[in-house]
Amino acid sequence: MSDQFRALQGFRDVLPEEQPYWHYIEAVAQEVTELFGYRRIETPLLEETSLFRRTSGEGTDVVDKEMYSFDDRADKEGRRQNLSLRPEGTAGVVRAYLENGMARLPQPVKLYYMNAAMFRRDRPQAGRYREHHQFGCEVLGENDPALDAEMIALLYQFYTRLGLKQIHVYINSIGDRESRPQYIEKLREYYRPLLETCCEDCQVRFDKNPLRLLDCKEPQDQAKIANAPKTIEHLSEAARQHFDAVQRYLQAYEVPFRINPLLVRGLDYYTHTVFEFTSEFESKLALNGGGRYDGLAEILGGPHTPGIGFGAGIERIILEMKRQGIEPPAAQKPEVFVVYFDRVEELKTTAIQITARLRKAGLRTEMSYGDRSRKAQMRQANASQAAYTVLIIADELANGLVTIKDMRAEGDDIESKQVQVSLSDLEAYFQPHEHATV
Ligand code: HAM
Repeated sequence: MSDQFRALQGFRDVLPEEQPYWHYIEAVAQEVTELFGYRRIETPLLEETSLFRRTSGEGTDVVDKEMYSFDDRADKEGRRQNLSLRPEGTAGVVRAYLENGMARLPQPVKLYYMNAAMFRRDRPQAGRYREHHQFGCEVLGENDPALDAEMIALLYQFYTRLGLKQIHVYINSIGDRESRPQYIEKLREYYRPLLETCCEDCQVRFDKNPLRLLDCKEPQDQAKIANAPKTIEHLSEAARQHFDAVQRYLQAYEVPFRINPLLVRGLDYYTHTVFEFTSEFESKLALNGGGRYDGLAEILGGPHTPGIGFGAGIERIILEMKRQGIEPPAAQKPEVFVVYFDRVEELKTTAIQITARLRKAGLRTEMSYGDRSRKAQMRQANASQAAYTVLIIADELANGLVTIKDMRAEGDDIESKQVQVSLSDLEAYFQPHEHATV
């Protein structure tokens, strides 16, 4: 047994039992994105590594430590590209927007992706995997703060429709290109004398990605974070107005929110509004994160194109649904189960024909396999929870008849549960579907 293959650490199978959660989340996401006018996009799993390096930023954990990157085989000219499995969805969507001329469409362009696999070589733990999946939205081509509020409202409506409670919405503004450098200087001034006592990661952050100093989880640095200058105290006039408007519009949407002045997010491309949702029960892990990224298209060589988006981790949403006891609609059971009561090839062939006919008529139909005994077949029919069983019995078949047993009928009165139906009338018996609603 020891040499049996296992899934890689941090990678998981999504088994049939969990599929109803995935279906339900997808259905609700589709419903809500449609209400808000978003259209679906899918981008490749694999992109040039530099796409992520340039956008998410050197000095971020996602790019420096967590990407799955490799050199591709050489092309005809002997050139090799370095490729990466995508660690996040925004860079690919913005590349696709630029590459496919979406700037020529009426703006803004509202896009969403669903169950998109992302790969980060993170330390696996509950709610943190090396492959995870995101529901994400990106809106490009417009910097109206109404869109920041709309996106947060969309997410809020999504969680509400899923039935999740006690979801906390945190927002912050990390400023624009005018205010950010000044703020970063202030932050460095504050941290410089404290640096010796900071954790090793923070010493690197100080040079490479000072905003992330505020995101440190080490106990020794928490007091420093609490007293550090806050981004919202150093906003330019334009950034202040933008953030004020976002708050007004969120009130118009009736989304309850709190400002978290320490929220900075882990990727480099953000400007202005950033946001995260957490549940009361799972305060450490975010259900989703996002923000505005007005400079990102330019980093990719495109024209200035404002943008805003979020990614929500499906695995984390499922964990939270389970924690809150929210059951998705169950997977559908078969409507009909076909059994054959003698191990005669002719009966089995008839069972296959009947199964085929019922499926063509649109009925979810299962049959017994493996030439089992009567008793074993009836146990299978019961276990399948099908509404009806079609019994093929040699004597009856000789007269062109089969027996249909209503598996849901109450009581022991066999007669009321069973009817004989002519083979030729089989589909008609189940149509219209009112007999067979499960
Ligand atoms: P992010 O905050 O890195 O943002 O990830 C978004 C969400 O993905 C997280 O809030 C979490 O729910 C889920 N997630 C991230 N890493 C893991 C993991 N290792 N295991 C399980 N779930 C995880 C982004 O990815 C940005 N692209 C979001 C965005 C879109 N910003 C603008 N547009």
